[in-house]
Amino acid sequence: MKIGIIGSGGIGQAFAKHVVKAGYEVIISNSRGADSLNEIVKQLGGKARAGSVSESATADVIFLAVQWVHLSTVAKQISNWAGKIVIDPINPVVPPDYKIAELRGRASSEVVQEMLVGAKLVKAFNTFTPQLLGSSPEENGGKRVLFYCGDDDAAKTMVKSIIDKIGFAGVDTGTLKQGALLQQYPSGPLPGLNLIKL
Ligand SMILES: NC(=O)c1ccc[n+]([C@@H]2O[C@H](COP(=O)([O-])OP(=O)(O)OC[C@H]3O[C@@H](n4cnc5c(N)ncnc54)[C@H](OP(=O)(O)O)[C@@H]3O)[C@@H](O)[C@H]2O)c1
Repeated sequence: MKIGIIGSGGIGQAFAKHVVKAGYEVIISNSRGADSLNEIVKQLGGKARAGSVSESATADVIFLAVQWVHLSTVAKQISNWAGKIVIDPINPVVPPDYKIAELRGRASSEVVQEMLVGAKLVKAFNTFTPQLLGSSPEENGGKRVLFYCGDDDAAKTMVKSIIDKIGFAGVDTGTLKQGALLQQYPSGPLPGLNLIKL
């Protein structure tokens, strides 16, 4: 199975490290092009390679690790999101002071879903810092709990299989409407929680 990672910052690289280690084929991209990713790809090793955003978007599962303010640009770069399984680790914060974006009472993932028309969105990997996400998911003989939610059962099953394979303990928080509000930073109760399942 191929995983496309759009965004090569802290979260994109932390996720990439785990999925490469687990043996997945990975195409990672950013805004500056494949040449800027030579060092990162070398460090990742395994079946990782750099590509364009469009190439990342051809994968079986797409991990969309860009800042909220860059979301609409990326959304428009891909002509057809229909049917694509997309993992959304995005927190709706806006620089320079990282205040929460205007969401009109909706979960941020509902807004992301609206922009990626027809995508099968699963919100996950958004509640840890890049440092914690990138560290070993095993702690004190247990597995670090990782929350996920979404409206498409098949997409959730696929993402859960990735979560399992890379060594986290996945916990389903429900639909996008319910779960994303729980997972959402800075307004939800789950970000920053470091729970270990024994
Ligand atoms: N940092 C955290 O503590 C944390 C925790 C949980 C969740 N998150 C969420 O995870 C997401 C990523 O965060 P991060 O800290 O990894 O951000 P980051 O370090 O700023 O990295 C963002 C990445 O997005 C890429 N990008 C920007 N515009 C793009 C475009 N049009 N096409 C392709 N790539 C583009 C950037 O590429 P270039 O460098 O080439 O511009 C960069 O590689 C954010 O939504 C954030 O809210 C962050």
